Amino acid sequence: MERVSQQQQQQCVKRREVPTTMMVDGDDCNERQQPMPWPTKRPCTRATLQEQVQRDDDGEDCGSTVRAIRGYCRKRNMPSDVYRPVVQPDVDRCGGGKFRLTDLIDELHRVFAEDRVNVEYVQYLMESYRSDPAEWLKYAKFNKFRYTRNLVDAGNGKFNLMVLCWGEGDGSSIHNHPQSDCMMKILAGQLTEVRFAWPERSDVDGGDVDEDDQRLQPMCEIGRTLLETESVCHINDSMGLHRVENTSHTDKAVSLHLYCPPFEECSTFNQQTGHKTVAKSAFWSIYGEKVSKKRAEEHVPTDDN
Ligand SMILES: [Fe+2]
Repeated sequence: MERVSQQQQQQCVKRREVPTTMMVDGDDCNERQQPMPWPTKRPCTRATLQEQVQRDDDGEDCGSTVRAIRGYCRKRNMPSDVYRPVVQPDVDRCGGGKFRLTDLIDELHRVFAEDRVNVEYVQYLMESYRSDPAEWLKYAKFNKFRYTRNLVDAGNGKFNLMVLCWGEGDGSSIHNHPQSDCMMKILAGQLTEVRFAWPERSDVDGGDVDEDDQRLQPMCEIGRTLLETESVCHINDSMGLHRVENTSHTDKAVSLHLYCPPFEECSTFNQQTGHKTVAKSAFWSIYGEKVSKKRAEEHVPTDDN
């Protein structure tokens, strides 16, 4: 198994193919952690997209993420036409060819209808969407006491797409993403992702002990990344744990989160001891409609952003 460097974790780059139903145990775990032969990540800017479409197809130089995806699929007899660019060569990205939030949702549904999903392509889609407040404002519902989770699309049970709203100084607990991949795109403002290694449990005698008897230690921070608007972060349990914070005392922040597959509860961790606690998921609003106060009170708090 190839280890993921800290720099790679900080850049939130993880490239591989995973089934729509994630597995973390057994052989599939090893498969998940094998790096895919993708080219070096490059920012998905208009200039680089134009450069990509000018390159020759099928060349050794895999500068295009999309062509790299197609080449990877062909080598493995996977249907290469499943994955496609969201910007056509002759279409102005900022004009009629704009890739809207509804386009992103439609494409996610199409991709997740397959048995296997290329995580690289999903990240490419998330990066390709350019934040337009007019498209997501109806989901952006804030709470003055804590950050909120607002469901945008349930993805036919294959994924959840949601908007998270962060007030000034809001932050999550340290948490995992059980058997799931998480992609987080910043729609407005800035967020800081602090990444941690899984807590090491040591026992005095070196033998088997019950979890409650294990001596827990402060958790080890392995990365800290300031995520600007439009940037995309990717994490799963093989990449560690994280906490997300809006460190600004003057500006709110909004982020778009994709979880595949969805999960209803996760573990949160005490940074000083590594002790974990199960936390259930809940939505502040669903499809733009605020969840009733009674229902919301049944499910507080959550920390699975
Ligand atoms: Fe998270």
